[in-house]
Amino acid sequence: MQIGPVRVAPALVLAPMSGVTGSAFRRLIKRENPGCVGLVVSEFISVEALSRNNRRSLEMCRFSDEEKPIAIQIFGYDIDRMVTGARLAEESGADIVDINCGCPVPKVVKRGGGCELMRQSAHLARMLTAVRRSLTVPLTVKIRAGWDDGTRNAAEIARIAEECGVSMIAIHGRTCKQAYKGTVDWDIVRSVVESVKVPVVPSGDICSPESAFLARQAGAAALMIGRGALLNPWIFSEIELSGEKRQARKRTEVDVADVIEKYLVLLREELPDKAVIGRLKQFICQVTKGLRGGAAVRRDLCTTPGLPDFMEQLARWSDTVRSRTKMGPESLLWAGGSVDA
Ligand SMILES: Cc1cc2nc3c(=O)[nH]c(=O)nc-3n(C[C@H](O)[C@H](O)[C@H](O)COP(=O)(O)O)c2cc1C
Repeated sequence: MQIGPVRVAPALVLAPMSGVTGSAFRRLIKRENPGCVGLVVSEFISVEALSRNNRRSLEMCRFSDEEKPIAIQIFGYDIDRMVTGARLAEESGADIVDINCGCPVPKVVKRGGGCELMRQSAHLARMLTAVRRSLTVPLTVKIRAGWDDGTRNAAEIARIAEECGVSMIAIHGRTCKQAYKGTVDWDIVRSVVESVKVPVVPSGDICSPESAFLARQAGAAALMIGRGALLNPWIFSEIELSGEKRQARKRTEVDVADVIEKYLVLLREELPDKAVIGRLKQFICQVTKGLRGGAAVRRDLCTTPGLPDFMEQLARWSDTVRSRTKMGPESLLWAGGSVDA
């Protein structure tokens, strides 16, 4: 996929996930899927905070070379602040600036940001035009199917965005009211693909080579994967390899223990202990799903307060898992899992 001058190859994108896709997670996923992640997107960053030079928000714009190409996603309502935020994102070296038009969280929507922008198309058009003019890098948007069942206006919003100079449209095929419930509306995704010339990237429930195949059938220029990467950090390679009709290697308990430990190291490089433990527990709760004994691992690790105790528990579990490996490969098979809402 080509987004202006930015080549996204392979056409697989790590979705923006607030509280998840910080630099540590982006690096983890890129390292675990060498050559198989074409683009990563940051967590959404408030332009209200960014334009007031909030330290944490400025830090969220940072990334390392190995994460490139990278899109920085911003959210907000006020056009001047959006322009300032977009410029700061570009100045941080982002390859792409993305505007969030899909967040359903009440705190965001009540202030006019996220999916509320899909209900205010005239304001959105002014905002996109102003931000587009202020940037030299490509501008993209991430939208939803619409506000609710009665307003599935993704195709209309996509056309407006294209007219305003947006270079790619990602669409989560659920409405704002659905949040993460129910199923993705692939007809809406298809209607967006048919409405615009710019690349369209579907998001939602792509968590296996099979679901990737269905998404491609809807005309996807690339696929965006979010929760599937928490559940299965090797999903990008598995989808990429399945395209080449090659078998992905079997994942084992040891792989899971290893990836948790690698994430811990990366998180500790950039976050305070409290945030490290929060993000790690969130990861463990997903990545151990389908693992034999996974429920016990989640119970033991995710109820341990304080980083030192947590690290001790993790090391104990990793040792157990590794010594079990020596006893025979039968104990290693991973049963697979499914995406939780
Ligand atoms: C914890 C979490 C945080 C999210 N944060 C963002 C965000 O900051 N920006 C955004 O555009 N979408 C966000 N999303 C939506 C995802 O990017 C994605 O569209 C959605 O989860 C559906 O895709 P999936 O089934 O692959 O997860 C978030 C989703 C989750 C689960």
